[in-house]
Amino acid sequence: MAERETLSSRLGFILLSAGCAIGLGNVWRFPYITGRYGGAAFVLIYLVFLVILGLPVMVMEFSIGRAGKQNIVGAYRNTEPKGSKWHIAGGFAVFGNYMLLSFYIPITGWLLYYFLSSLTGTFRGMGTEEVGSFFNTMLSEPLLQYGWGFIALIITALIALGGLKNSVERVSKIMMGLLFVLMIALAIHSVSLEGAHDGLMFFIRPDVGNLVEYGLGESLFAAMGQAFFTLSLGIGAMSIMGSYFSEKRSLTGESVRVVCLDTSIALLSGFIIFPACSAFGIEAGSGPSLLFITLPNVFAKMNAGSVWSALFFLAMSFAALTTLIAVFENILAYWMDMRGYTRRKATLLNIVLFLFIMLPCILGFNVLSSFKPFGEGTGIMDLEDFIVSNLLLPLGSLVMVIYCTSRYGWGWKNFLETADMGDGLKFPKKIRFYCAYILPLIILFVTIRGIIDIIF
Ligand code: PHE
Repeated sequence: MAERETLSSRLGFILLSAGCAIGLGNVWRFPYITGRYGGAAFVLIYLVFLVILGLPVMVMEFSIGRAGKQNIVGAYRNTEPKGSKWHIAGGFAVFGNYMLLSFYIPITGWLLYYFLSSLTGTFRGMGTEEVGSFFNTMLSEPLLQYGWGFIALIITALIALGGLKNSVERVSKIMMGLLFVLMIALAIHSVSLEGAHDGLMFFIRPDVGNLVEYGLGESLFAAMGQAFFTLSLGIGAMSIMGSYFSEKRSLTGESVRVVCLDTSIALLSGFIIFPACSAFGIEAGSGPSLLFITLPNVFAKMNAGSVWSALFFLAMSFAALTTLIAVFENILAYWMDMRGYTRRKATLLNIVLFLFIMLPCILGFNVLSSFKPFGEGTGIMDLEDFIVSNLLLPLGSLVMVIYCTSRYGWGWKNFLETADMGDGLKFPKKIRFYCAYILPLIILFVTIRGIIDIIF
């Protein structure tokens, strides 16, 4: 068998993992739920959950990959006690990757379409109504969405085809670098707009009144769900990075860095979006249409709006593409590790598979729009998002936590040994009780509550 590929550097590992984590969850989901739950007080809760929930689970997921040296199914198989069936959870995780991309590819397509439209000045001088109808027209045209989804898919596949070190790692590093530069420039511009002050305060000055108004319980659950989603936890997208990484650095220290990078992009999105909205008197808490209706409206009113809009959608496209690339790599690893496929054959197969898998999401906005899984205003995309975000990510994370802490699984000792290999911050041994009992209960509680919320 050919030797397994590895990453060329520590920086490559951190940026590739951060590239996987930083995506629509940071630039789109984070700002709109922050808008919905009332701003800064919500952000504080979210930050707390990143540390007490996201960070330990990330170390565990990286460790499973590091010890198992394969995709998530293979990693469970290589580390589980003889005769046990933990690897079945790996099967669900692989399914989760497909499910995630079923809507991630079409949305990345929208972003690329908006980038091009901004570049050609389409939004210039548009009124509020026109911007709204531009979005709705796009949704009503399956071929247009399919075409842009196809472009997103092909870009991803071509990068994957070039190999792990020479292409996936290199391209992600470049895109992440550009993403940071663009986001910082956009944030400085937004904050310095006249009238930015109110939006800025909404984002940085906690107002507990806001939280209470929206229901403290619901805000807590939203913050926890967001912590899992944004860090890409629970479906093996992070464990694969652990499997490619050297054993020279401990995983807790590296996880802290990935979480910090992820958080800084989420916060930068807030600094871009809220001040710009208040500067032009546009309501920010407008749900998922924030990126595709609210912001183009803001740009339409701004000086040199087309340029800022193009830069903004370019940054969004980079964020989404690095996630696509990482998740696609994870899927390829499954086919290469478990089925002995070459990278080329696995890539071709998956291009064909995704041509079908992305269809339901797209058709849900037009041909199949009469299907409303969660009532008025929802579609197939919401169902797919629900299955991933509310079921597969938290339950996958729950299994990983139990696996790393229980003697019927991989066990605490093995986990600690693996996580602590190499230089850098070690995993705190004192929090064993918390990890083994409290953490799983929190996750279980969030999951059940999330399901109840959506269904009723
Ligand atoms: N973290 C990604 C984002 O923020 C989404 C994701 C979730 C990716 C789970 C992989 C696994 O957009």
